[in-house]
Amino acid sequence: MCGIIGKAGIGEVMPELIKGLEMLEYRGYDSAGIAVIHNEKITRCRESGKIINLREKSENNREELTGNVGIGHTRWATHGKPTVENAHPHISNNKKFALVHNGIIENAEEIKKALLTSEEFYSQTDTEVAVKLISKFYKTDVISAVKTACKELTGTFAFGILCSDFPDKIFATAQGSPLVAVKGATGCWITSDLGAINEKSGEFYRIANGEICEISKDSILFYNSEGEEIKKSPERVSLTEETVNKGGYEHFMLKEIFEQPFAIKKTVLSFADKNSIKLENVNIPDEFFKDKLERIIITACGSAYHTGLIGKHVIEKLCKIPVNVEIASEFRYSEPLINENTLTVFISQSGETADTLAALRLCKKYNAKTLSIVNVKSSIIAKESDNVIFTYAGKEIAVATTKAFSAQLVSLYALAIFIAEKRETISNQKKQKLLNELLSLPDKINTTLLKTTDKAKALSKKIYKSTDIFFIGRLYDYGTACEGSLKMKEISYINSQSYASGELKHGTISLIENGTPVIAIGSNTEVFSKTASNIAEVKARGAKVFLVTDESEKDASVFVDDIIYVPSTTPEFQSSLLVIPLQLLSYYTAKRLERDIDKPKNLAKSVTVE
Ligand code: F6R
Repeated sequence: MCGIIGKAGIGEVMPELIKGLEMLEYRGYDSAGIAVIHNEKITRCRESGKIINLREKSENNREELTGNVGIGHTRWATHGKPTVENAHPHISNNKKFALVHNGIIENAEEIKKALLTSEEFYSQTDTEVAVKLISKFYKTDVISAVKTACKELTGTFAFGILCSDFPDKIFATAQGSPLVAVKGATGCWITSDLGAINEKSGEFYRIANGEICEISKDSILFYNSEGEEIKKSPERVSLTEETVNKGGYEHFMLKEIFEQPFAIKKTVLSFADKNSIKLENVNIPDEFFKDKLERIIITACGSAYHTGLIGKHVIEKLCKIPVNVEIASEFRYSEPLINENTLTVFISQSGETADTLAALRLCKKYNAKTLSIVNVKSSIIAKESDNVIFTYAGKEIAVATTKAFSAQLVSLYALAIFIAEKRETISNQKKQKLLNELLSLPDKINTTLLKTTDKAKALSKKIYKSTDIFFIGRLYDYGTACEGSLKMKEISYINSQSYASGELKHGTISLIENGTPVIAIGSNTEVFSKTASNIAEVKARGAKVFLVTDESEKDASVFVDDIIYVPSTTPEFQSSLLVIPLQLLSYYTAKRLERDIDKPKNLAKSVTVE
């Protein structure tokens, strides 16, 4: 995680860096800092906490921070506490170099020990060794010093570097962490995310592993890992500002929850009409699905992993093919039993989650077919996958995902229908029914929002003082329960656990006490009656049970403390509606507890370290 920005251009750079960092704050918000070059002198300003603190400090020191060339950083702490001393940029002892870093330098301690005879260290970060090492190797040529230093570093990193001997330049390099260089109308930039730069359009270059880049006001030069100049072709990008204000909502999370009908409509219409599913960036021959496909492996992290848990049941049911769902950080270090007849699916909103990317690269080594479901088009996972389904959730600012989760879910439904059609495992009639339901999901999500918001708000009042909450469900509903539980704990900080309903009695039921809230998810499937039995079991032990189910269960006799009904759809897609009141419930619970809903503590939106 961590966000990097840098600009060499016209006009004062400090306000541009702060604005850019505000756009990158989703990548980490433990501390932040900038460094600006003026009259061959580097001045830096750092502050702990959110960018607003840095903004205030920088504006108070505006005169010292004058200059047209600078770098900035927003930190998600990996090594060392989120203090000012550990905030980036870090500088060399002779103050010639300033450096910002995203990633983890794995051999930092080793290098530090070797450098301790000649250099003093002022932070607990792994980053400080990088700037000291570059300074050690520097004579007159920055590219050569960076090249030599990077050869000694192991791990993942992206650096933005200032050198006071070259006051009109920024140097940058990357090894496994995302960083792009952009040539815009007002200057040249480096950034972790294109959305952070203040330009309408531009030419952008991804800084590939080992490459070093040198930018000045009107040029971007590239060097390979041996320090030889190379030519790269730019990609063009339109950077028209996406709406990043709260549009009248108190938090981005609530706004994004309410954007779901639109986000899902845009995503569904990108691949579905009333007759078929067309996946324009999937180029796998029909014969593969029909004759060769042996198994599917879905790999992802966090909420994206939960979409996989739900998608597994949809795909297995419709396509009659085994599906395994793997946590990317585990899978990447396994010895997977996959081959060219395996379809591997990677799900990622950001498209840059380090573990998911590593899993993708691992599968490519085994010649498995790779397909990613990604929200950020220009991301590295999208670029490296052989096949992609893009989601159209738009920019998601709140750290807790909602609309991107829902867009991933409908993309998995589309993939299931697409494969089932090729494998001829569903009838025409079934396909028609599924397509109709898929196309009507945006309206049903809208209705769900209208019908369940007040109920979720009221329920939050009953549970917000709890210390433990349980979420239970079976099959599709288990994945939904996992997502409801993750949302709850990540933003309200209430300990919550998700359980496959039938599994509770194998141990965890001992945690149920008088008044413990249990949120049961029970959609209209053949197993509803089984979930009803599990509800009775926890009720008998004093739990307060709140059932989230669909309207077709209105006549079911199940004894609970309260029920939230969502509209009905086909069982395969019901999770898309059941998850909405769970998102709202976590939001209103966190709001009652006055949590920092959009930026929960210790988290970051984009997880680019393992
Ligand atoms: C939770 C959440 C995370 C992400 C996870 C994967 O609300 O947002 O669990 O789902 O970090 O991120 P992406 O989808 O960007 O790979």
